[in-house]
Amino acid sequence: MPEDQDFGEREHSARCRWHVAGGLRHALPPCHKRFRISQISRAALLHQDVRQHAGHCRASCPRTPIRPFATRNMNFKLKIWRQKNRQSRGKLVDYEVRDISPDTSFLEMLDILNENLLRAGGEPVAFDSDCREGICGTCSLTVNGEAHGPDHPGAVCELYMRKFRDGETITVEPFRVGAFPIVKDLVVDRIALDRIVQAGGFISARAGSAPEANSILVPKHDADLAMEAAACIGCGACAAACPNGSAMLSAAAKVSHLSFLPQGTPERERRVLKMVREMDEQGFGNCTNTYECEAVCPAKISASFIAKLNREYARAQFRQRLGE
Ligand code: SF4
Ligand code: FES
Repeated sequence: MPEDQDFGEREHSARCRWHVAGGLRHALPPCHKRFRISQISRAALLHQDVRQHAGHCRASCPRTPIRPFATRNMNFKLKIWRQKNRQSRGKLVDYEVRDISPDTSFLEMLDILNENLLRAGGEPVAFDSDCREGICGTCSLTVNGEAHGPDHPGAVCELYMRKFRDGETITVEPFRVGAFPIVKDLVVDRIALDRIVQAGGFISARAGSAPEANSILVPKHDADLAMEAAACIGCGACAAACPNGSAMLSAAAKVSHLSFLPQGTPERERRVLKMVREMDEQGFGNCTNTYECEAVCPAKISASFIAKLNREYARAQFRQRLGE
């Protein structure tokens, strides 16, 4: 097996959902091998048994087979959305980038394109980014029709060019949501999402200095769920992927995060009512359970938090009617 293919197998092993959590052991026949993740090293992957395991596993893998990592530099054709400003009409413009290392990130590839454009006296493509490590939620591109591109879960700043074929045509557009107007080229204005958080995604308890860890006890299960929900980076990909342009996943993450914690309890009802009202006012659509949001979310926020948001909303309305 060529060396670069070993890395492909390793990537497959890391991502394949039929590999049970915590180990590389395959959950289903026909594989009879039992390997623990600690055994997986580059050297171990060269071992015949492990290769056999990976072969069995990949043969029955329901996911698209993952290509081995490319090792040669590649060329790409790009179709990029160019739009002068909010009022003007935009269109897809063709570009080409050559000699791109497979280890170049998608945003670095756009940087290279912009350097080439500047050198040729053209106007660089405007796009958003900040941390470039999947934390800030600033990058907001639709790549080949998918919010954040084809490498889920992950933000587009975590996408690498080895995910594409040499010579592939890649279409790059901004997030397409009615509530996110285009500012320029690939930059959208996502203040509508911030306004939902401003409406209620906070606590007004005095935080003071860090309290002693055991002074406010939080059940482990609730703390874990609050942490999961708090992982939302506010990127807006959920709304971009949703056919209804709904921001329910993002709002649900914030509502759930705070409602699981004692510090969020005093404003629990007010918060959910205000945030849902703001979501409607900002022009986001409603959830119809298509689960597109969950599929593209770089923070792996579960759609089950939307059910939690609905329960919180029903509870708040009920208590409001009772005049509590
Ligand atoms: S829920 Fe996920 S996709 Fe939506 S804003 Fe948060 S991190 Fe982004
Ligand atoms: S640039 Fe920060 S998440 Fe992508």
